[in-house]
Amino acid sequence: MRNESIFNESQKYMPGGVNSPVRAFRGLNINPPVFKSGKGQYIYDEDGKRYIDYVGAWGPMILGHCDEDVVKAIEETSRNAIAFGAPTELELNLAKLICETTDIDMIRFVNSGTEATMSAVKLARGFTGKNKIIKFSGCYHGHYDGFLVSAGSGVMTHSIPGSAGIPVDSVKNTLIADYNDIESVRKLFEEYGDDIAAVLIEPIAGNMGVVPAKKDFLEELRVLCTNYESLLIFDEVMTGFRVAYKGAREIYGIEPDLVTYGKIIGGGLPCGAYGGKREIMEYLSPIGPVYQAGTMSGNPIVMAAGLATLNKIYENKDVFYTKLEGLGKTLESKMMEAANKRGINITINRCGSMLTAFFTDRKVENYHDAKQCDVNLYSKFAENMILNGHYVSPSQFEALFLSIRHREEDIEEFIETIEKIF
Ligand SMILES: Cc1ncc(COP(=O)(O)O)c(C=O)c1O
Repeated sequence: MRNESIFNESQKYMPGGVNSPVRAFRGLNINPPVFKSGKGQYIYDEDGKRYIDYVGAWGPMILGHCDEDVVKAIEETSRNAIAFGAPTELELNLAKLICETTDIDMIRFVNSGTEATMSAVKLARGFTGKNKIIKFSGCYHGHYDGFLVSAGSGVMTHSIPGSAGIPVDSVKNTLIADYNDIESVRKLFEEYGDDIAAVLIEPIAGNMGVVPAKKDFLEELRVLCTNYESLLIFDEVMTGFRVAYKGAREIYGIEPDLVTYGKIIGGGLPCGAYGGKREIMEYLSPIGPVYQAGTMSGNPIVMAAGLATLNKIYENKDVFYTKLEGLGKTLESKMMEAANKRGINITINRCGSMLTAFFTDRKVENYHDAKQCDVNLYSKFAENMILNGHYVSPSQFEALFLSIRHREEDIEEFIETIEKIF
């Protein structure tokens, strides 16, 4: 059993045997499979077992694994250009493509979603000259100290570090509000309005499971930010190019001041980006006073993989997103039907090709609702799905992602397994 021996040895050399905690399957009674290869909607572990993949590397693999055009772009670029730490035409091409097709003026590439959001917040602080930010319970924006906060008991506005190793001082400028609750935001603006640099939000949350924002909530958020001269930052690291080409912005028709991207824009290679209005972006060094840099930023191979991915999506985008919506809809309705048949309570929140089945009979509209779910039941579900060759997230508070390579037959197989498990 190579899976087991590799994972056991990994634990000697890497904490928990992993490089990112969720991969360790700590909430499940099985070890994580160790993966060797992937093609289309399939991934294969070290023991040769095949899985239909519903994690998609946590979002990036929207074209499926090892898409031929992406592989070709990586291969061809890597023959001539691995890294320069200097300008290339590839980065111009990707910047131009993203700016022109998503209607932003300027963009800066970084190496991860975390870097994108932390840099966007720094830029917002530099631009507005203000210190505080508002984030929402249940939204995740990466592992930057200022984002890893929990609401202090009792007083909602008092944040405490959400991880060991974070000084209290690092979170004192992070205010926490409740998702889909505009009054909780209004209160913070009333109290701290002249010092709030930005409101940072996942406009469709994926990190408490999928929880879409209500349209009027986002509209009012936009108005509050404008009135108080704070920047509205949409974190579209997960939703950008996923829920629609232009992300949640396109779905809601609401314009943030800054947007962050990651995941899909690098075609599966390490990439993040933040962008927005020219007058804000020009606050960045070397033309402006806000310093942010990166040796690997705009790496040519990453840019080539991103270009191949986004070009492929963009060239046929209506058909592309219609197909994903169709697959998502089938999955949602058949899963609901299977649960109803067996008397299992689930609530499904879905936006296009990202979906979460919450084990509860209630609506899930914020983090409090999400936490009421039966996570033990979810863990059993995930364990059994994975053992039966359907690779789903080990945690209730994540999304299930479809790729353009999934077929109706895959979903049927998925439902057959679910019926067995339920
Ligand atoms: C919405 C959102 N923002 C930021 C991040 C952080 O991105 P990364 O893991 O690439 O640092 C994530 C990661 O899942 C995310 O979902």
